[in-house]
Amino acid sequence: VSAHGAALTVHIPDAAGQAALGAALAQSLEGGLSIHLVGDLGAGKTTLCRGLICALGHAGPVKSPTYTLVETYSLDTALIHHFDLYRLVDPAELEDLGLRDYFSAGALVLVEWPERGAPVLPAADLAITIAYAEMGRRVTVAATSDAGRLTLQRLCALWSGAEPQMGV
Ligand SMILES: Nc1ncnc2c1ncn2[C@@H]1O[C@H](COP(=O)(O)OP(=O)(O)O)[C@@H](O)[C@H]1O
Ligand SMILES: [Mg+2]
Repeated sequence: VSAHGAALTVHIPDAAGQAALGAALAQSLEGGLSIHLVGDLGAGKTTLCRGLICALGHAGPVKSPTYTLVETYSLDTALIHHFDLYRLVDPAELEDLGLRDYFSAGALVLVEWPERGAPVLPAADLAITIAYAEMGRRVTVAATSDAGRLTLQRLCALWSGAEPQMGV
């Protein structure tokens, strides 16, 4: 099985399911990873992140970092940086923020609206794409590195016992 082009696509009927997918992803992670979340306003990016962050041990609210650009969660089990770049005007702003420091070894980095941070943003290990479906959302989790592929394989086993589909 090749490391690239592997992806899992699932239909998620409601917000609780969206958070549950985030929690399953949390269980599948090992070490630091960079995860990009792509989808329209209201697609469910923050909901998925919330499920993930809470499953890693955060108790309390997970606010959308729309205005702050980034929220950091320093947990016993993980260091998480949750970005929302929707309001980013110029990717150079990210360099002023000290972007490199956020991608230190071991940190889990979640990025909503990653396209607004290109080309300054480091490459992702997993790219999550969320689209509106007739009932709920269609979510695709694609591996874009070897570390991402490992996580994806575990996620597939957890979620459905499925193998990642190739060439999606
Ligand atoms: N799979 C889903 N099906 C139906 N509604 C969802 C789903 N995931 C999230 N939602 C709802 O969509 C709305 C927007 O979610 P949010 O996570 O804030 O989106 P985003 O961060 O992509 O803008 C919320 O009301 C949330 O409860
Ligand atoms: Mg959001």
